[in-house]
Amino acid sequence: MAHRIALIPGDGIGLEVTPEGVRCLEALARRPGLDFEFTEFPYSCEYYAKHGVMMPEGAIDELSGFDKILLGAVGYPGVPDHVSLWGLLIPLRREFQQCVNLRPVRLLRGLTSPLRNRGPEDIDFIVVRENNEGEYSEIGGRLYDGLPEGMAIQSTVITRKGSERVLDFAFRLAQSRPARHLSSATKSNGIKHTMPFWDECVADVGRRYPDVTWDQFHIDILAANFVTHPDWFDVVVGSNLFGDILSDLGPAIAGGIGVAPSANINPTGELPSMFEPVHGSAPDIAGKGIANPIAMLWTVVMMLEDLSEQQAADDLMGAIEAVTGEGRVLTGDLGGSASTREFTDAVLAHLNG
Ligand code: NAD
Ligand code: IPM
Ligand code: MN
Repeated sequence: MAHRIALIPGDGIGLEVTPEGVRCLEALARRPGLDFEFTEFPYSCEYYAKHGVMMPEGAIDELSGFDKILLGAVGYPGVPDHVSLWGLLIPLRREFQQCVNLRPVRLLRGLTSPLRNRGPEDIDFIVVRENNEGEYSEIGGRLYDGLPEGMAIQSTVITRKGSERVLDFAFRLAQSRPARHLSSATKSNGIKHTMPFWDECVADVGRRYPDVTWDQFHIDILAANFVTHPDWFDVVVGSNLFGDILSDLGPAIAGGIGVAPSANINPTGELPSMFEPVHGSAPDIAGKGIANPIAMLWTVVMMLEDLSEQQAADDLMGAIEAVTGEGRVLTGDLGGSASTREFTDAVLAHLNG
């Protein structure tokens, strides 16, 4: 049976890297026993310009029938970010209860970290981001709008259920990794209500995993420690906003945002999980064909793993690292001069070779 994949390339470089991911999947599907059926959806800022909505009514229902969703990037100048993101990306994550966002950080073969004297043995951790609640809440609003007293209030929502399901996933993940260690991002010294509650949930869930060691850091020093002691980290779990920030900072020590993959997981498997690079639509380089496709290709590896296509996942990851390891064909962000397509061509040559 073919895996049914919904494609949402979205905006900017999303339109350039998504086809490269599809090319790799199509190459893998030449093997017996592996097949994909792709259906593309045009939901994007361009779609918004034509229709006044980011996606039509009924889109969620239609997408719910797919096995997985592969998304490029959402957001482009011309449509306010809070409109485009709250019209497409954030509702998809919520409607499909993708409460776990996995964002691995690993220094790929051949790439150099901007941190002096740090190699692949020092940089290998995974950020687990709460993906459905927290600081990204709709509760709040503006008061005294237009007056000198103007103000805005935004509530953070941390629930026991929402925290425990992501923490449970994170502890389980830690259990499966050699270091069996988890670090929680907190700020319970300054954020008076939600963060002490988060810490309590961590301690409660942690008791169920006696074989996992865990610690916690306030987000400020945690960010600093990513730079000074990346080797301390294995599984790093945080609220929606803390996880968002850590998952740009993490890749910054491992080659940058152009190599950062992510998976929005629905742990029950009842609704589709969604796979997308960490990066956005990169308007500054969009249309030039120079975006780094590694983030998307590694994202495709995560999707294959989630589909239990481990051999295909390993082969694609192996091909990506064969190319980075050689160091000849790299895009501009990694110091090379290859185009998006040329990098993927090199990966495909390894995959087919
Ligand atoms: P961005 O990730 O789009 O770009 C940040 C910087 O990184 C830019 O200089 C860009 O050129 C570079 N970059 C990003 N991806 C790259 C790649 N694959 N190869 C080479 N360079 C790359 O972040 P931004 O500029 O803050 O956001 C631009 C738009 O994208 C905004 O509308 C934002 O809201 C949206 N966004 C969407 C997502 C998403 O869909 N998941 C994520 C982040 C930002
Ligand atoms: C990400 C992005 C999104 C987020 C934005 C664009 C809403 O930064 O996927 O990391 O904050 O989740
Ligand atoms: Mn982000």
